[in-house]
Amino acid sequence: MIEKIIVVNGPNLNLLGEREPEIYGALTLAEMEAKIQQFAADMNIETKLFQSNSEGEIIDFIHEQRNWANALVINPAALTHYSYALRDAVAAVSMPTVEVHLSDVDKRESFRKHSVLTQVVAGRFKGLGLQGYLRAIEFLVGQSVQDELRGCIERNAGKDQLLVETAKLLKARFPKYDWVGIYMVAGTELVLHNFLGKPTPHERIAIGEGICGAAVSERHTILVSDVKSDPRYIACSIETRSEIVVPIFSEGQIIGEIDIDSDQPDAFHSGDQEFLESCAELLGPHLSGA
Ligand code: DQA
Repeated sequence: MIEKIIVVNGPNLNLLGEREPEIYGALTLAEMEAKIQQFAADMNIETKLFQSNSEGEIIDFIHEQRNWANALVINPAALTHYSYALRDAVAAVSMPTVEVHLSDVDKRESFRKHSVLTQVVAGRFKGLGLQGYLRAIEFLVGQSVQDELRGCIERNAGKDQLLVETAKLLKARFPKYDWVGIYMVAGTELVLHNFLGKPTPHERIAIGEGICGAAVSERHTILVSDVKSDPRYIACSIETRSEIVVPIFSEGQIIGEIDIDSDQPDAFHSGDQEFLESCAELLGPHLSGA
């Protein structure tokens, strides 16, 4: 479980706000760090933030925090492209690590296309500005949720227990997931198997009806950034603003789906889609039968 993350920024990022704002944006480092810290706190994660222009200080900080932190989010700045010492430090502490770049390093000078950290990081976000750091935090939490689901599968949890545990983990670890439900296909209907959040009047939904039904008939994930402007939406709660529905496949057939509502508008992005599709892939083979 991810509870403590260190967020490290490398050389020259102390000048954010005044440093080439057309590339790196207008936020200062302090403003960016405050937003990262708040975002993490909203996910019940403690953070320690650190910036240095010195390779050695960055390595020392990572070493010092290795027993405190569960994970590392790092924008190594120019060190990305040549620091084997930093690469080795990341490998040495064996914490799940995500590399972040404010700019899209693949669309700039050729020396920026190469990262010496590639083999030691679990994920990489570039060209998203501040969002990249926030996505990195969600990515790390998502990875740990999947590890917990794998653990549950290895312990031979039954189908019902696995589905209950899935909803519990998703709701607990992603506070923006205000309602988490799992529907199973039964003939021409979707039947609500278990959920967390406010009770819903929609315990049975015909396939093809609503966003849930559409995801089954169209056989793919549906992401709705504003439910009010989607005519397919069948209201469950007046607070819901956005929704994601992810089919669960088993042997090529859709056997169920993960349905998540958020009270925040536009709460879901491609990161949520990838994460939830991976969860559905993990669950699929273990849900057929009893
Ligand atoms: C950077 C990209 C690096 O190439 C550069 O040296 C930086 C910042 C980014 O955030 O886009 O200093 O990591």
